[in-house]
Amino acid sequence: MLTAEERAEIEAEFPRYPNRKAVCIDAMKIVQKHRGWLADDALRDIGELLEMSAADLDGVATFYNLLFRRPVGRHVIYLCDSVSCWIMGSDRQCKHLSERLKIEPGETTADGRFTLLPVVCLGACDRAPVMMIDDDTHFDLNPEKIDGILERYG
Ligand code: FES
Repeated sequence: MLTAEERAEIEAEFPRYPNRKAVCIDAMKIVQKHRGWLADDALRDIGELLEMSAADLDGVATFYNLLFRRPVGRHVIYLCDSVSCWIMGSDRQCKHLSERLKIEPGETTADGRFTLLPVVCLGACDRAPVMMIDDDTHFDLNPEKIDGILERYG
């Protein structure tokens, strides 16, 4: 069941959209914010409110890479692997992050601290390579800079 808080936050979005179904991405973001990720029961809860099936919601979540259908770490690293960042060495930064955190892209560290996810363009191509951690964007990356940035996230 949705909590009263989750339900109130989702219902507050209704006036912005033409119908309930159109709220589905925002609704999933809201529930993910509270629960960390979207388990099957979360989709069922949202579906009841929006009059959608969990399968329909799952289909939307699959195409939206900021919605998580599996547990993620306390902090999510979104490393851009689109063309400008790739030209500026995002693959080297990815390798460094993988070695440093001992995970492959798509995985979560053993201590649950970080999940590493490759993503498409973060819209800061002139400062490539770029990554986001949670809501913070970090630019002009190199291995030394990455090490310093990671220290800030406990
Ligand atoms: Fe990486 Fe645009 S290509 S931010």
